[in-house]
Amino acid sequence: MWEIDRTYYDGFETTFQRLIEKKQVLDKGRPLPQSALHKIKEALTIEWTYNSNSIEGNTLSLRETQMVIQEGITIKGKSLREHFEVKNHEVAIDYLYSIIHENYQLQSRDILNLHGYVLRSIEEEFAGRLRNGGVRISGANFIPPNAQKVPDLIDELIAFVLNNPLGLNTIELATVFHHKFVWIHPFFDGNGRTVRLAMNLILMQAGFPPAIILKNDRKKYYEALNQANNGNYQKLLLLMCQAVERSLNIYLNALPGQESYESIATIVSEPGVSYGQEYVSLLARQGKIDAYKEGRNWFTTRKAIEDYIENRQRKRQL
Ligand SMILES: Nc1ncnc2c1ncn2[C@@H]1O[C@H](COP(=O)(O)OP(=O)(O)O)[C@@H](O)[C@H]1O
Ligand SMILES: [Mg+2]
Repeated sequence: MWEIDRTYYDGFETTFQRLIEKKQVLDKGRPLPQSALHKIKEALTIEWTYNSNSIEGNTLSLRETQMVIQEGITIKGKSLREHFEVKNHEVAIDYLYSIIHENYQLQSRDILNLHGYVLRSIEEEFAGRLRNGGVRISGANFIPPNAQKVPDLIDELIAFVLNNPLGLNTIELATVFHHKFVWIHPFFDGNGRTVRLAMNLILMQAGFPPAIILKNDRKKYYEALNQANNGNYQKLLLLMCQAVERSLNIYLNALPGQESYESIATIVSEPGVSYGQEYVSLLARQGKIDAYKEGRNWFTTRKAIEDYIENRQRKRQL
């Protein structure tokens, strides 16, 4: 269970390097101004809640989610349950921030608590409790393990994260945790929302901002999990890197003197640009250049593209 095929590693080296550098820039820029920090945290809480709930089937839009969180408004035509899902997720995020600190160590109690918040007032009988029966995941290429094995598997997973026997970096560790957790599927319901919270305990403990899996990527996310079930972490790792980078960029943009990101369409239409949209989009999707996706568009900087091209030419000449 704890063997990991790391043949993906070479293809991710530049991406990991870039994320580590960005984190270093952010660390040097800390502490961020209190007001900026507060705004970013609030925006992330809304996005995180919207995206995670939406992946799970909640029909509130980003704007509606924001209104429920910020103004306590009830949205006409939406069920009480959907409102609870928003409120609960916000409480779970608050809880997560409250327990995270420099020497934090992942423990099952915290994961159960997160799950307890996620399902509170909705599925009270399951909230904060491991399942005691079988489950199936629709569309999945496997059946989760027998309920009797769940407590031990969760303990082993946590030990794996804490001891890190393979020497994985933080993003790999959060990715493997994410996958193994939903593979175990410890709860009758709420596994996805809980793991998208809990994986951030690992990232945030290491000083990364919380990463958000986007609703727009739902299909890719499910495919990535099926690949991971077959031992291939490539796709899931790419999604995780993109999620981490997106949050890093949000924080970095709050630092003074940062280069501004523009849509690829905008960049390639600038005078003196000789590369095309297709090519740059491909590099962005593959994680080869510093870029992030917002809605349907990819954003990057001219410098990121030019650095990449220059680097390639240099490699060719060697
Ligand atoms: N093929 C798969 N293999 C492993 N895990 C999967 C697969 N498909 C979906 N999942 C995970 O299961 C979650 C759904 O489980 P569920 O208990 O209903 O959680 P939630 O209610 O929070 O959505 C998804 O969000 C995803 O994390
Ligand atoms: Mg569910």
